[in-house]
Amino acid sequence: MTEPNEPGPADAGAHFVVVANRLPVDLVRDADGTEHWKASPGGLVTALESILLANHGAWVGWPGVADASPEPFDADGIRLHSVALSAEDVELYYEGFSNGTLWPLFHDVVVPPEYHREWWNSYVEINQRFAEVTAAAAAPEATVWVQDYQLLLVPKLLRKLRPDLTIGFFLHIPFPPVELFIQLPWRTEIVEGMLGADLVGFHLIGGADNFRFLAAQLGGHPSARLRSSRGKPSEIRVGERLVRVGAFPISIDSAAIDSVARTRETRQRANRLSDELGSPRVIMLGVDRLDYTKGIDVRLRALEELLEEGRLATSEITLLQLATPSRERVEQYQIMRSRIEEAVGRINGRFGEIGHPVVTYIHRPVPKSELTAFYAAADVMLVTPVRDGMNLVAKEYVASCTDGDGALVLSEFAGAATELRHAYLCNPHDLNGVKDAIMAAINDPREERRRRMRSLRRQVLGNDVHAWARRFFETLDATPGTNVHVRTPTER
Ligand code: ADP
Ligand code: F6P
Repeated sequence: MTEPNEPGPADAGAHFVVVANRLPVDLVRDADGTEHWKASPGGLVTALESILLANHGAWVGWPGVADASPEPFDADGIRLHSVALSAEDVELYYEGFSNGTLWPLFHDVVVPPEYHREWWNSYVEINQRFAEVTAAAAAPEATVWVQDYQLLLVPKLLRKLRPDLTIGFFLHIPFPPVELFIQLPWRTEIVEGMLGADLVGFHLIGGADNFRFLAAQLGGHPSARLRSSRGKPSEIRVGERLVRVGAFPISIDSAAIDSVARTRETRQRANRLSDELGSPRVIMLGVDRLDYTKGIDVRLRALEELLEEGRLATSEITLLQLATPSRERVEQYQIMRSRIEEAVGRINGRFGEIGHPVVTYIHRPVPKSELTAFYAAADVMLVTPVRDGMNLVAKEYVASCTDGDGALVLSEFAGAATELRHAYLCNPHDLNGVKDAIMAAINDPREERRRRMRSLRRQVLGNDVHAWARRFFETLDATPGTNVHVRTPTER
């Protein structure tokens, strides 16, 4: 791997470019017309920020509001290039094809995906726009890392514009079973788009296997049938090129979170939070984007039944549920939000006491430092998605649990469950199983809870986001014909 050059003049192009649907900051327009930037939501930004910072690289993305096209600018040493989207682009490409077609299709059709030709046409057009902005932002022979399901066509489009680039692609959400993927009318174009990369990365081996099978079936690349041995990346021949396909489970900046969690400020904030919640015996916590895949409704149903059955009492427990607003104009998100808010109201109406609701529900993002204190205060963390690519929240909780006293209830349908085997695992479709997992997490002997948390912490602290990026770039660099210009922060 070659070291990146020092950052040159902005117009010389960057040696390392991340391309993602969103910039790491969103432009916010206030009612009075003033504008400011705030951190973007979601795990993708959390994961990539520290790697970009180490590289003085560039980031290409949408600034989060329609019709905004700020000139390229520097933020914390990262050069940000905006891709402008009109209100119609947002509706068709982002809310439509990305989040009304691909998101539900790739999450096991939890809600029915919709297939509309005008959404697809817009997706193709916007992917082309991302490819063009990226082609202009990248230095000769730069390394470009394309992210996630909103940009599945970019690798191929970018290669056409700039054959000199080394291109990696990483999918942050699950890659679906073949039987579901083939519903997509444009399945061949999508697979070919991804095969434009030199390395295609997934969280789990299952996703990589599904993709390889499809590449053989749809892309007419018979070499894709060859399975890799022991989960090692495999190679697919695409014309003259070799494309690598592999699994790279993403992680977090574990040491950074661990050290914030150990500070006196965090511990004081955690204690204050517990007081504010009425110092219950058990604080349960949920932290999610408000998304129908996250199973917020599942944990609320489980809690309601446990209270109904008298297995839990209002006097001893509380649930703090943080739900960041997400994709609010998409109908399925509106339906899910009403259901969740109705359930919170019903549970508090049935079981809350004056001054002591069972569920405290906060529908807005909280600052990162505050979030670490919330994790530190929680006795039981509830992560119950019906499908999730990885779920960084589960890992953040473990990294924040510095006193080793906390329990993670984790859905088997989160990618994180393949690594966090000592969590209290549950099947979110089996409500009795979820209830039992919650009860075990609350009532197991302290030593058992600590034993599990010790093992989880070993896993999370030993496999951080830097190790993830290093593995990805080492594999990319080993792909014939590539030349990788990326520095990953050194191991701590
Ligand atoms: P996704 O990428 O689907 O949103 P992840 O669990 O992988 O899910 O990542 C979510 C990220 O967003 C985490 O880094 C988490 O800390 C952050 N986050 C989630 N909810 C909130 C919230 N209410 N306030 C602040 N940050 C949040
Ligand atoms: O990985 C999941 C993801 O879709 C990311 O691509 C994105 O950054 C995050 O969730 C938040 O979603 P959105 O950008 O649609 O608000």
